[in-house]
Amino acid sequence: MITITGIIVLALIAYFAKEFITGGMSISNPLENSTTDSAPIVEGRFTPLSLAKFNGTDDPKILIAVKGKVYDVSNGASFYGPGGPYENFAGRDASRGLAKNSFELDCLTPTDQPIDQLKNLTADEIESLDGWEQHFEGKYPLVGTLHENGDSI
Ligand code: HEM
Repeated sequence: MITITGIIVLALIAYFAKEFITGGMSISNPLENSTTDSAPIVEGRFTPLSLAKFNGTDDPKILIAVKGKVYDVSNGASFYGPGGPYENFAGRDASRGLAKNSFELDCLTPTDQPIDQLKNLTADEIESLDGWEQHFEGKYPLVGTLHENGDSI
């Protein structure tokens, strides 16, 4: 004889089975660590120009370059998304700004100019940048690298 508890248990099993089948509870790919619906980027090769569209507006995905590596920071949209405190970094090479602890536009190299080689940073600024690199490395998926030109996506 089926009890109320039995019906509840069956309903819960049916619910979780449906969630699992429709993807709601599936184990996610770590590179798919994005709050957006757009497809994950895996090891893309970016130029400053091709990176620029990933600013949370032109494309919902938000990417940031730090020391030549490109991270998907979409999960940090409250920081980097439109209206966020660090939105200037979205779609850009943030290295100099992170080194100098500034999110001002004058720390960002225009996208049609050569990539900042970060030659004239002080020891403190290099240390600060390296600290931020660790932060991004530990928190966000690495999705590509930044190049002067070449195949861009
Ligand atoms: C008025 C001064 C500032 C305040 C009060 C402030 C506050 C904060 C807070 C509360 C967090 C979140 C920390 C956490 O939960 O992990 C954060 C993260 C961060 N801040 Fe600031 N900040 C300031 C200035 C700056 C400046 C000038 C920069 C420029 C480089 C900056 C870059 C960042 C970055 C990159 C993160 C990490 C966001 C992430 O995890 O993706 N902040 N800040």
